[in-house]
Amino acid sequence: MEIKITKTNNPKAKPADESKLGFGKIFTDHMFMMDYTAEEGWHDARIVPFDYIPIHPASTVLHYGTEIFEGLKAYRTVNGDIRMFRPMENIRRMNNSAERLCLPQIDEKDALQILDTIVEMEKDWVPHSEGTSLYLRPFMYGNEPHLGVHAVKIATFVVICSPVGAYYAEGINPVKIAIESEDVRAVKGGTGYAKCGGNYAASLRAGEKAEEKGFTQVLWLDGVHRKYIEEVGSMNVMFKIDGEIVTPELTGSVLPGVTRKSCVELLKEKGYKVSERLISVDELFDAARAGKLEEAWGTGTAAVVSPIGWLSYKGEEFEVNGGKIGDVTQALYDELTGIQWGKIEDKHNWCHKVC
Ligand code: COI
Repeated sequence: MEIKITKTNNPKAKPADESKLGFGKIFTDHMFMMDYTAEEGWHDARIVPFDYIPIHPASTVLHYGTEIFEGLKAYRTVNGDIRMFRPMENIRRMNNSAERLCLPQIDEKDALQILDTIVEMEKDWVPHSEGTSLYLRPFMYGNEPHLGVHAVKIATFVVICSPVGAYYAEGINPVKIAIESEDVRAVKGGTGYAKCGGNYAASLRAGEKAEEKGFTQVLWLDGVHRKYIEEVGSMNVMFKIDGEIVTPELTGSVLPGVTRKSCVELLKEKGYKVSERLISVDELFDAARAGKLEEAWGTGTAAVVSPIGWLSYKGEEFEVNGGKIGDVTQALYDELTGIQWGKIEDKHNWCHKVC
């Protein structure tokens, strides 16, 4: 694929204090864009100075939410290479999300070339400090200037990049999670497994209410029985119950997380019994009451591995592991980030060197 490059004449200053990066607040100098029409396919691939995107007021995405996105990271490793973590997993998931929302597919090789090109171009923006990375946010939206409700024939694909630190203000300290009993995020047959903006829009009301009560995020239950645990707002979830690691199975309404998949593989290699299965909120709280809920944590690209220190459901609250990060959570965080930052040998070939 040919990518036309237009460099900015006004490069911005890089963040001076990497400890204050936070998540998704600063953007690099350039972004990737390309357009799709049913007649021409994807065309006009270009890297341009980072800027606002003009959009037609009738554009499909503004009315019917035809949008999908991905999140992956590029790391500056200890030996100075810039590497992405499992980019093909994100590319494949993006195409699955596109299929669900009737958006066009992107050739896997083209998608990897796009990510390689923008990361190489923005390599000086990949932060240096431990715990930081360059977050890549590819997204695609239906862009037809037409109010009819139908699968789009015109779309736009964009990649923006943001140097980031920890997603949560808590950093690696345990977060407080409220289990939601009223709103639901997704149902089987809906868009739960797709990474689309609408899923996140549906989650905001409960998230706001939980925040007002001092919780960091919401843990969703399944939309049919309202009893099986699914995922947290921005991460998948795992529990250590009486020695067994349990994570909700991918029923169709749970996001198939790349970090989730990587953690399952790492834990199995370490000899843990890992079960991807249905787990009800009753089972979880029974285990907590019996003192068998040993650890809880979330996994996600943005969240990495985030310990959960408190869980609350319908007014009942449990402290997990004394509100402290547990041994398995810490070991998993260390191993995963060790692989990503090049401190630990990448035996699985998960890291993709860019430059
Ligand atoms: C990610 O982990 O990359 C996400 O997309 C989660 C979130 C910030 C929406």
